[in-house]
Amino acid sequence: MRAVEAREAGGPEVLSFVDLPDPEPGPGQLLVRVAAAGVNFIDTYRRAGVYPMPYPHVVGVEGAGVVEAVGEGVGDFAAGDRVAWAEAPGSYAELALVPAAEAVAVPDGLDLPTAAALMLQGMTAHYLVASTFEVGPGHDVLLTAGAGGVGLLATQLATARGGRVITTVSTPQKAALSSAAGAAHTIDYAAMDDITTELPATVRELTDGQGVHVVYDGVGRSTFAASLASLRRRGTLVLFGGASGPVPPLDPQVLNRSGSLYLTRPTLAHYVATRAELEWRASEVLGAAATGNLSARIGATYPLADAEQAHRALEGRATTGKVLLVP
Ligand SMILES: NC(=O)c1ccc[n+]([C@@H]2O[C@H](COP(=O)([O-])OP(=O)(O)OC[C@H]3O[C@@H](n4cnc5c(N)ncnc54)[C@H](OP(=O)(O)O)[C@@H]3O)[C@@H](O)[C@H]2O)c1
Repeated sequence: MRAVEAREAGGPEVLSFVDLPDPEPGPGQLLVRVAAAGVNFIDTYRRAGVYPMPYPHVVGVEGAGVVEAVGEGVGDFAAGDRVAWAEAPGSYAELALVPAAEAVAVPDGLDLPTAAALMLQGMTAHYLVASTFEVGPGHDVLLTAGAGGVGLLATQLATARGGRVITTVSTPQKAALSSAAGAAHTIDYAAMDDITTELPATVRELTDGQGVHVVYDGVGRSTFAASLASLRRRGTLVLFGGASGPVPPLDPQVLNRSGSLYLTRPTLAHYVATRAELEWRASEVLGAAATGNLSARIGATYPLADAEQAHRALEGRATTGKVLLVP
């Protein structure tokens, strides 16, 4: 089979399109012919060595496809089933070994690329707004990177729950996409000289001087201080990523001084830790897409051989919505 390997820790140039032996499913595994693999920031962190990994490794964790064979002990899936997953290392490949415990059935009426586009970012958007801080009517929400993969989906889900969503975006095109997803206001933070003072000032103007109930911040280093300063008293900062880099260590007294704030740094794995929770989130997200109640924007699709360009685009702030690789 053909696959994309990271030869060593480094930039996008360490990705190689290689021939590998077809894998065989072991106990508890599905052998899946991949229809589309999702490109995610976690792939870039693992490629770059930010998260320790063995090298070479086949990159990618997310995808959707059709089961070709099942390993010993698999009872819930059979050859021919359409499945999707958010955590199966080695997904940038024509064939992937997917733990049956990580696979979910793709509902009728939903195509496989859309299912691949929704698993990681969609379930993340779901847990952020439904579990980490439960958005409800009357809540003011600030969301960074509103036109990103998580951003467009979280905007739709938070709005559907009755929240009023304000987003940050870096271009007029991203502003238009974010508004179409339901954002009540978009703020161009790329144009700001001093984001740390200007972003909170704009957010306070939009919230009668109060600040928002919750900030979902996946940008990290460049927005963290502004996010804290955009919260109302006893507001919650959900730091869920670091697209601009990691946030430096912080003195807890900052939370006291800024208004008895809450800070959490969640990760998807802890919000789909049981089979029941994985199935609940996946069925809500895939089901909403299948019935037209959630729109997944696939902003770019690359052939598997062009994974290097896909990583450059994601890290270079040049993408909107989901980026997919198609074998
Ligand atoms: N904790 C979890 O469970 C979890 C799960 C999934 C993803 N994440 C995290 O969520 C974040 C968003 O993920 P995503 O896949 O949806 O990505 P994305 O939002 O589609 O892409 C990242 C966006 O961040 C913004 N950004 C601002 N400064 C940036 C910089 N210096 N470099 C790159 N991007 C920058 C850009 O939007 P603008 O141009 O509009 O600023 C960019 O398009 C990432 O940090 C990711 O690691 C966390």
